[in-house]
Amino acid sequence: VIDIRKLYAETGMFTYDPGFTSTGSCDSEITYIDGDEGILLHRGYAIDELAEKSNFLEVCYLLLHGELPNAAQEAEFEHTITRHTMVHEQIHHFYRGFRRDAHPMAVLCGVTGALSAFYHDSTDVHDPRQREVASHRLIAKLPTLAAMAYKYSIGQPFIYPRNDLSFAENFLHMTFAVPAEEYKINPVMARAMDRILILHADHEQNASTSTVRLAGSSGANPFACIAAGIASLWGPAHGGANEAVLKMLGEIGSKDRVGEFVKKAKDKDDPFRLMGFGHRVYKNYDPRAKVMRATCYEVLEELGVKDPLLDLAMALEKIALEDEYFVERKLYPNVDFYSGIILKAMGFPTSMFTVLFAVARTVGWIAQWTEMIGDPHQKIGRPRQLFTGHTSREFVPLNERG
Ligand code: ACO
Repeated sequence: VIDIRKLYAETGMFTYDPGFTSTGSCDSEITYIDGDEGILLHRGYAIDELAEKSNFLEVCYLLLHGELPNAAQEAEFEHTITRHTMVHEQIHHFYRGFRRDAHPMAVLCGVTGALSAFYHDSTDVHDPRQREVASHRLIAKLPTLAAMAYKYSIGQPFIYPRNDLSFAENFLHMTFAVPAEEYKINPVMARAMDRILILHADHEQNASTSTVRLAGSSGANPFACIAAGIASLWGPAHGGANEAVLKMLGEIGSKDRVGEFVKKAKDKDDPFRLMGFGHRVYKNYDPRAKVMRATCYEVLEELGVKDPLLDLAMALEKIALEDEYFVERKLYPNVDFYSGIILKAMGFPTSMFTVLFAVARTVGWIAQWTEMIGDPHQKIGRPRQLFTGHTSREFVPLNERG
């Protein structure tokens, strides 16, 4: 490991690494990825094992505290999160100020940023207790805010959280229940939702997490930092890819057009890329995509849905994985490739896909933010630049400019 700070002080040299392809921005104990082997571990536990044997709140505790909770710790954590699921009544007015056809990510980003105006008793980043309360509030309130964004967009009344339900069940309830009608939660849907949340919980220093850390490095409050993370996540090269995958599958339309789109993705003069393929770190099958694919089959079978998009996705995966271009570049399906098909079957509109990602990733963001704040080596993030503009020039008065 090169000590860049020392190198810079002694020589004035710095690294030029657009996109940070080989620059470590921090040390971290939270998430480990071996991209060549397709391994993802949270605090040492494999993602597929967590998805099979754990539940989302337990994974939240693990990410935040470094260890799986014992029974008493789990019960207390569940109680704490449940207690924070309600949002301030005034926040309801915020929603009414947005256009009904606004993208729910735009709404979520705005409202999450506004949380610091409501919960300023948990914005002091130097107070560990306030940091902890902010973490709990964010994890607990994001599903409520996300479900409210959905309800507002379809003109239905907001549904208040129910604290007797699990995290995933409560989210489904707030999203799909309507007043005066019984909403029965399908356990297969609840389990799938919980798994989707686990699979998206953290992924070390990706664009949105790095955004959260960078924003937080100036001492900005946690609510503002998470809003910055949501904004970054929205991009189609990142969390917006799940929405883009479904749009792409819709555009492809039928299996006989798969070849045409694979060809288009390989054409360097065409900006089109196969959405849901490729990853900066994974040069192997994304381990999250494997669990997601299995979950996709379970959900479609349970709901009795025969979605031709699944057949199309499989055909696309097969052709791409056999194609020299994709093989050479080690482009495999990523977590977003199958998630959209599951979410669609569950009844979520495409515009909500990235919102769900944000709900899940909030714990990763806040765990990483907390780790950064507690790091004695933490400094304000301030990248250098390679200046390529004009050097010193003389000012030309307006009447002398050509
Ligand atoms: N389709 C076609 N070609 C691709 C794709 C793709 N999906 N992804 C990468 N490539 C090609 C690039 O054109 C490049 O080819 P070249 O070497 O001939 O120039 C090569 O593979 C390497 O790609 P880069 O863009 O340099 O890789 P990078 O690490 O910067 O990008 C990214 C990773 C953004 C995920 C990219 O693979 C991509 O755009 N994928 C599609 C969007 C997507 O699915 N995003 C979700 C990521 S996962 C997540 O955020 C949860």
